[in-house]
Amino acid sequence: MRLLTHLSIAFTAITAVSSKPINTTSPITTTKITPSYWRATFSNPPFNLQDNAFYAAFYALVDEISNDQDVKVVVFDSSVPDFYIAHFDTVNGVSTDLLGGYWANMTKLANLPVLTVASIRGYARGGGAELVAGLDTSFASKEKAVFAQFEVGVGAVPGGGGLALLPGLVGRSRALEIVIGADDFDADTAAQYGWINRAVPDHKLDHFVDNLAHRVSLFDKEAIAYAKSAVIARAGYPPAEEQQSDFAAFGKLASQPNFQARIAKLVELGLQTKVAFEKNITQEVLKTVGEGPWDV
Ligand SMILES: *[C@@H]1O[C@H](CO)[C@@H](O)[C@H](O)[C@H]1NC(C)=O
Ligand SMILES: *[C@@H]1O[C@H](CO)[C@@H](O)[C@H](O)[C@H]1NC(C)=O
Ligand SMILES: *[C@@H]1O[C@H](CO)[C@@H](O)[C@H](O)[C@H]1NC(C)=O
Repeated sequence: MRLLTHLSIAFTAITAVSSKPINTTSPITTTKITPSYWRATFSNPPFNLQDNAFYAAFYALVDEISNDQDVKVVVFDSSVPDFYIAHFDTVNGVSTDLLGGYWANMTKLANLPVLTVASIRGYARGGGAELVAGLDTSFASKEKAVFAQFEVGVGAVPGGGGLALLPGLVGRSRALEIVIGADDFDADTAAQYGWINRAVPDHKLDHFVDNLAHRVSLFDKEAIAYAKSAVIARAGYPPAEEQQSDFAAFGKLASQPNFQARIAKLVELGLQTKVAFEKNITQEVLKTVGEGPWDV
């Protein structure tokens, strides 16, 4: 696994009502619409892969949010056509240090006195779907959002929160269908299952999310903080330790020759290089099924 050497990612801060980001090469571009309303835009084309730079930027953002007194709402969206977050970087791997800190960072974000809002257009699969499940609220384009936990389809398991969060969101039977069926779900079905808050017609999504975020940004931080912590206390949010065994299971399965041989085959077919392959990945994985031993 590659090790990341540069952990600090510079974030752009724009305090006026403007949406022009300065650093367009950062995997997550932060725009302060106002001091209390931020946008974090996944901007790691062509797939918004969760790679080393993505995780480093995400953790820096969690730090920045937790150290800021004014922020009340953060919208997480994507500037990459067709992809919200394709999945984690399976080909190059991610530094164990970075990956190992994911759930602690996500759990910290989930407990901050700030409302997080996912605005999803395009494919949110694997780690991308887990990130959506970890945020407070989620709204998706009816026409353009697709969700999947396809890890079982390549011989692994969701190791970034899917197994811990899905049962609470959708219940036992639907979580089993999502995780073990490993197939795509459209926004309407995801909403009906309780995986996301709601599906919104694509042309209304931005306005809907902006309206919600704008309203929240006007309200009293102390009221938001109490309301959020009281809801989490009742609804529950899995503690970081609960995630460790799922993360370890993912690591163990992903280190096995069968998984690696499958990934090698998928790379040959277009994994992380071909847009058509990435869009169709839940079907493409059917070319590498079976108990193995896989050897390519
Ligand atoms: C922009 O972001 C990239 C990737 O995170 C980083 O390597 C680079 O230093 C940043 N550039 C500036 C000018 O901040
Ligand atoms: C976030 O992850 C990084 C990298 O593993 C870690 O150093 C940091 O302590 C984590 N942050 C929290 C709040 O756990
Ligand atoms: C998706 O993958 C399946 C299975 O490999 C294949 O039969 C189908 O043609 C692909 N569809 C598209 C749109 O590429």
